[in-house]
Amino acid sequence: MSDKKLIPISLATLEPSDALAWDLYLLPRDSNQYILYRASNYPITSSDLEKLVASGITRLYISREQRASYQQYLRDNADAWLNNSAVPLPERMETLNQVVTGSLSESFRKKEAVERVVGQSSTFGRQTAAFFAAEPILFEDLVRVLQHDYTTFAHSANVCFYSVLLAKHLGFSGDDLAQIATGALLHDLGKLEIDPRLLVKDNRLTEAETREMQKHPTLGFRRLCRQDDLTAAQLLMVYQHHERLDGGGYPVGLTNDEIHPWAKLCSVVDVFDALTSDRPYRTAIADDIALGIMHRDANTAFDSEMLTCWTRLISTSDAN
Ligand SMILES: [Fe+2]
Repeated sequence: MSDKKLIPISLATLEPSDALAWDLYLLPRDSNQYILYRASNYPITSSDLEKLVASGITRLYISREQRASYQQYLRDNADAWLNNSAVPLPERMETLNQVVTGSLSESFRKKEAVERVVGQSSTFGRQTAAFFAAEPILFEDLVRVLQHDYTTFAHSANVCFYSVLLAKHLGFSGDDLAQIATGALLHDLGKLEIDPRLLVKDNRLTEAETREMQKHPTLGFRRLCRQDDLTAAQLLMVYQHHERLDGGGYPVGLTNDEIHPWAKLCSVVDVFDALTSDRPYRTAIADDIALGIMHRDANTAFDSEMLTCWTRLISTSDAN
């Protein structure tokens, strides 16, 4: 089969099965010819998978048309491959990011019902929190695999992973960590109701456009506030993530203690991701310069303890 029609999949994500939904192809070492390894209606056993690993194979290939089916398989089996310690951590992180961004991208594009988006985000939030709680994930593990193009779905995934990393190092655990992950995935949901032309505008927004854009926390909050499975703290992440400690934020202009700690946490990583991602009107800013900009606003925009913790996490990674 032509390589243009094939996409790689990680061998580590496959479970033994009586039949997978796709034909699996192999690229033998020292060859550029893909060969059919296993037709879809044929079982694949744990011994087959072990033999592939023993021969140094880490990737198999499937037809590009079957990407959606593979994505669904990854979602269904996430608990298995995320907890498989035989798979290197960066590979599991990369696959998790692909699954989360792939699913969010699809549900945002299709404008799926809010119940479905919340359900999906809660599942990803729980899985991400459990993965981060169990594994020594570093900032550098994240930054290598995340997309930095500031599409709403990629930004939401980045803010989720960064939030969980920061929250874990601030001492959050268990259900709190899972709730923070889910709240972060949903923090910008209101942007789906903003004119998409504003989201990709390649020069600065006018005053009227800025006012329009600044409605997104309120729009997101209104969209989500009737969901029984979200907590008040998660809703406040959505509603308050653009507030500043000095009252100069939006939509309300709340100050310090009026802002929920989880919204303060979300604000730190939200601004960091915004600065370090490519925007339509400028390219990404380097991590250290972004932190320098943010430290000028410590105690006026950001909680200084949270910003210090985030800075330490990034600096530790840089030192490795
Ligand atoms: Fe936002």
